Amino acid sequence: MRTDFSKPAPPSNDKRWKMIDAAMRRYGHKPHALIETLHTVQSVFGYLDDDAFRYVAASLRVPLSKVYGVATFYHFFRLKPKGEHTCVVCTGTACYIKGANQIMKALEDELGLRAGETTPDNKVSLMTARCVGACGLAPVVVMDEEVVGQMTPDKVLERVQAWRES
Ligand code: FES
Repeated sequence: MRTDFSKPAPPSNDKRWKMIDAAMRRYGHKPHALIETLHTVQSVFGYLDDDAFRYVAASLRVPLSKVYGVATFYHFFRLKPKGEHTCVVCTGTACYIKGANQIMKALEDELGLRAGETTPDNKVSLMTARCVGACGLAPVVVMDEEVVGQMTPDKVLERVQAWRES
């Protein structure tokens, strides 16, 4: 009997994860497994979030940065939560050291939100990620599909303000 098999636990008891597992079994060794799996997550949950990324990365044994890269590159993937615009603040180690917390605080104060929430006008959703795989550009914020490096609290607020006024 195999004893070295370590399958990651799904993020919750939600039965839909069984569908994701089945999709991963189906696509597991194919080159497009990652994209196909993310499609399945989106079609059964309606969006992708950090827990889903981690689970898929661990299950398919691909780097988390690659999962983020694919999910933010393709416009048909929707990240949770679902405001018109999404601001993902990377709070991984490299970004943390370079001031991700100040960026996050500036956004929380300005928008009156916590990570995972959307403004009441549905304009802006705020998310965090635990490394988007662009550490050399730290601190990084993904603004919609654009990975913006060397971010500052002032710059991020300016961009968010522009979204809210559009
Ligand atoms: S820690 Fe932010 S990109 Fe890696």
